[in-house]
Amino acid sequence: MIETPYYLIDKSKLIRNMEKIAHVREKSGAKALLALKCFATWSVFDLMRDYMDGTTSSSLFEVRLGREKFGKETHAYSVAYGDNEIDEVVSHADKIIFNSISQLERYAERAVGIARGLRLNPQVSSSSFDLADPARPFSRLGEWDVAKVERVMDRINGFMIHNNCENKNFDLFDRLLAQIEERFGSLLERADWVSLGGGIHFTGDDYPVDAFSARLRAFSDRYGVQVYLEPGEASITRSTTLEVTVLDTLYNGKNLAIVDSSIEAHMLDLLIYRETAKVSPNEGPHSYMICGKSCLAGDVFGEFRFADALKVGDRISFQDAAGYTMVKKNWFNGVKMPAIAIKELDGSVRTVREFTYADFEKSLS
Ligand SMILES: Cc1ncc(COP(=O)(O)O)c(C=O)c1O
Repeated sequence: MIETPYYLIDKSKLIRNMEKIAHVREKSGAKALLALKCFATWSVFDLMRDYMDGTTSSSLFEVRLGREKFGKETHAYSVAYGDNEIDEVVSHADKIIFNSISQLERYAERAVGIARGLRLNPQVSSSSFDLADPARPFSRLGEWDVAKVERVMDRINGFMIHNNCENKNFDLFDRLLAQIEERFGSLLERADWVSLGGGIHFTGDDYPVDAFSARLRAFSDRYGVQVYLEPGEASITRSTTLEVTVLDTLYNGKNLAIVDSSIEAHMLDLLIYRETAKVSPNEGPHSYMICGKSCLAGDVFGEFRFADALKVGDRISFQDAAGYTMVKKNWFNGVKMPAIAIKELDGSVRTVREFTYADFEKSLS
C-alpha cells in the first residue's frame, strides 16, 4: 500500500490520449509537442515519446528537461529571456520562439544556429477567463502589428499562436483559425512552420478528430507550412488521480471531511479558476464537503455524494489530476507533498517519487 497523498498516473488511460494524438498527426501531417508547463512528469515520457514529436517549453529549465528527458524535437519559448540564459536555451533547442520583436532583435544573432520564430497575437481567443486570456486587453503575449512583423521577416521562418484555451468546440477552433488566416495570411505565406499552440481539447470524447485533422491539413497546404500543435491538457486529460485519505469528519450544518491533501498545495489551478475537483461516480445518499488540511479557509475540493457515510481512513480519488498539478504543487503549510506513482500497463503500481521532510527543508534556507 502506498501512503497517501499521491498522484497516480494510469498508463492505460494515458495511451488513449496518445492514440488520438497519433491519429491526428497521421491524418493532418501536424506534429505534436507536449507542453511541459502543463505536465512534466518525465517518468512516463518513455511511453509518450512513441506517440508525440517532442516538447515545447516556457523557460530555460523546461527546455532543458525536454531535451534531456524527452528528446526528439525541442522548442523553446519564453515570455522573456535574460542575457544570462539565452545561450543555454539555444544549446538545448531546435527552434526558439521569441515573444516580442524586441527580444528577437536582442537575441537573433545568438540563435543563428537554430530556427527562429515569433509569437503572434490575433487579439481574439476562446478564453472566457480574463486571467488566462492571451488576447486580454494590453496583453504582453505576442506581436499583432503585421507591418512591424514584416520588417523582421528576414530573421524568422515561423510563428507560434496560442489563442485556444480549454476549447472543446471544433467550430470555434475553425472560426478562430479563419480569423488568424484573415489577419495574418500575408505573414503565414512567408513562413515555413506555424505552431497553433495548446488549449484544443481534441482528445475529448466526441471531438470530431477527422474534421479537425482535415482543417489542419488544409491550413498547412494553403500556406505551405509544417503545422505544430502543443497539447498540454489534451495529452494527459483523465489519465491521473490524486489519492487521498480522510483524516477527520465533522458536521457544521453540512457534513465535512478533511483529507490529507490540500487544493491550494496540490491542485492549485482549481482554486485559481474557481472550479471544484471531480469525484466519480459522485452518487449516493451521503453528501460531504471535502476539505484540505491547510489553514486556508477556502481550502475546499468540492461537495460530492457517496454511497456510505465517510469515516476516518476512507480513501477518495480526485479525478483528472495530471494537468497543472504536479508542475505547480507547493509546500504551503508544510503539507506533505503527494508522491507520484505509475500504474503500468500490466496493472502493477510503482512509486517513482516520494517527498520527505528533507525536500521541504531544502526548498528553503
Ligand atoms: C504557448 C502555449 N502552448 C501550449 C499551452 C498548453 O495549453 P493546454 O494545456 O491548455 O493544452 C499553453 C498553455 O498556456 C501555452 O501558453
